Amino acid sequence: MTAHTTGERADDTLATTGEHSLSTTAERKAVVELSGQAPDKDWVIVTRGLKREYDMGGEIVRALRGVDIAIRRNEYVAIMGPSGSGKSTLMNLIGCLDTPNEGEYWLNGQLVSRMSDDALARVRNKEIGFVFQTFNLLPRSTALQNVELPLVYAGVPSAERKRRASAALEKVQLGERMYHKPNELSGGQRQRVAIARALVNEPSILLADEPTGNLDSQTSEEIMRVFAGLSTQGQTVVMVTHEPDIAAWAHRRIVFRDGRIIDEMTELDELAEGRA
Ligand SMILES: Nc1ncnc2c1ncn2[C@@H]1O[C@H](COP(=O)(O)OP(=O)(O)OP(=O)(O)O)[C@@H](O)[C@H]1O
Ligand SMILES: [Mg+2]
Repeated sequence: MTAHTTGERADDTLATTGEHSLSTTAERKAVVELSGQAPDKDWVIVTRGLKREYDMGGEIVRALRGVDIAIRRNEYVAIMGPSGSGKSTLMNLIGCLDTPNEGEYWLNGQLVSRMSDDALARVRNKEIGFVFQTFNLLPRSTALQNVELPLVYAGVPSAERKRRASAALEKVQLGERMYHKPNELSGGQRQRVAIARALVNEPSILLADEPTGNLDSQTSEEIMRVFAGLSTQGQTVVMVTHEPDIAAWAHRRIVFRDGRIIDEMTELDELAEGRA
């Protein structure tokens, strides 16, 4: 994998290396092997033998065939792999939108793979921020109203909502565009509104499924700079992407094929192999 090919990218990475946490292969292996045991709180995401099958009228589609993942707080992880390899299925599970047929999923020390739908929805609203390829903004609402939405659902009073939503928009450098509607914003600005909306609840994980899929390469880079900044500030990020130069911004790359992990590389591994 061609990570950090440009001098500028390498500098960015070096600047943040002191801030983000990295896990070693041995540490992750130790955590996923302790089946049935709650992981230490430092491990924000742990899956063990995660399986998800879809029954398509008798034909069983095995979307995930036993996936072990351990992600430490403040890691920035990219999930890669061909179309149909199970990336979105995994994101739906770790985002608490779906439950596995088999296996464990521990989020922040809680076993969520056995939770009821109501409990799962509560955990999702508190712990997870989602960013999608298609932004999913309300077209007739302003940036501020879009970002306020999760707080409306959470029953936060109006003044407090406005304060927190504008702070989230400031964080993605959109303080000046708060009263613009989506069609009065560029693609990159729309995606930044969606990122602010994902962050407004202060989630423990930011999940992004192909966040640059609808953006040109310059705008993609703008969005990757936002993610890099969030990661430096301590946000845990898990991002799905097809594009190696987008994945290169993350500190670890996990590659899927046919519902399984086939490769996992961190910056440390790449440095050791002289690949970085
Ligand atoms: N709701 C569903 N019902 C039935 N089959 C599904 C469902 N969702 C996904 N699948 C199947 O599960 C497999 C994995 O799909 P998934 O969406 O996770 O792939 P992906 O890696 O995200 O692909 P892409 O890169 O195209 O987004 C595919 O074979 C897909 O057809
Ligand atoms: Mg997908």
